[in-house]
This record gives sequence, structure tokens and C-alpha cells, in this order.
Amino acid sequence: MPLGFVRPEQTPASASATEGARCVRPGDRICDVHELEDGGRGVRFMLAAAGGLRTAFVVRHAGQVYGYLNECAHRALELDWVEGEFFDTHREFLICAAHGARYDPVSGACIDGACAGRGLAGLPLEISGDEVRLARDLSVLRRPADRTLDTASMQK
Ligand code: FES
Repeated sequence: MPLGFVRPEQTPASASATEGARCVRPGDRICDVHELEDGGRGVRFMLAAAGGLRTAFVVRHAGQVYGYLNECAHRALELDWVEGEFFDTHREFLICAAHGARYDPVSGACIDGACAGRGLAGLPLEISGDEVRLARDLSVLRRPADRTLDTASMQK
């Protein structure tokens, strides 16, 4: 288990945490920047695309906002160990509660652990003033390493 992961009693956020999450479509507002604690609690939401829903999140790191699908590259489980908590105890890397894979919050790339060189699927965001929106065009999804996402089907 990587250094910084010291909450072994925690389990990934449950499906019940997803039930109350807000549904966001391309171009929709996700939250305000000031709602995101730098290196701390993020905002979860449901991404509505391709006729289905997938969980996603935004976090703030070093003053910048980043968004990802909430799917670990190891087994596609949600990362957060408590709803909205994605950072390790050093507030440096994103960490998966299931088996401790760690990711760079800037690129989504795997740092170490079970993600084994793969990364998180990044979401394109638009920041306007204090407002964080999901971009209208999801075809520019960032794809670190071999983590791929079918953006064509998501735009339908
Ligand atoms: S599912 Fe995330 S590390 Fe295994």
C-alpha cells in the first residue's frame, strides 16, 4: 500500500452516494471554483452521455481545477474513500480507495500502484470567473497512457 494511504478501514464511496448526485450534460455548470478545497474535497456529479450515466468529479490542485471520470484504471471502481474525498493524506495525489492506486491530479497519469501505467480519463472543463462548466465538446477528452474513452458515442 503506498505511503500516504492510511485509512484502510475506508471503502470506496458507495452507489448510494451516487444516487443523490446532480446530473451534468456537456456545457452545464458543475460547481463554483470556491466550492473546491485546494488539495481537499472535490465535487462528484453524474455525467450524462451516450444515453447513460457515469460518475465523474472535479478537484482543485495548486489553484487549478481538473475533472475526471470517477473510474479507476485498475478495475473501474469509484476512487473516493468518502464521498468527494479523492486526495491522499498528503493532499498531493488522487488515490483510489479500493487498492491504493495513485494518480497525478494534473494529468491523471498513474503514479504508482495497481493502475500500472494507465491513467484516469480527463474531462474538458471551461472555467469562467468562479464558474466551472463541463465543456460542450467532449471530443477533447484528455487520455493519459492507454486509458481510452469512446468520445464519439458520448456525444450522441
Ligand atoms: S480499483 Fe482502484 S486500485 Fe484497484
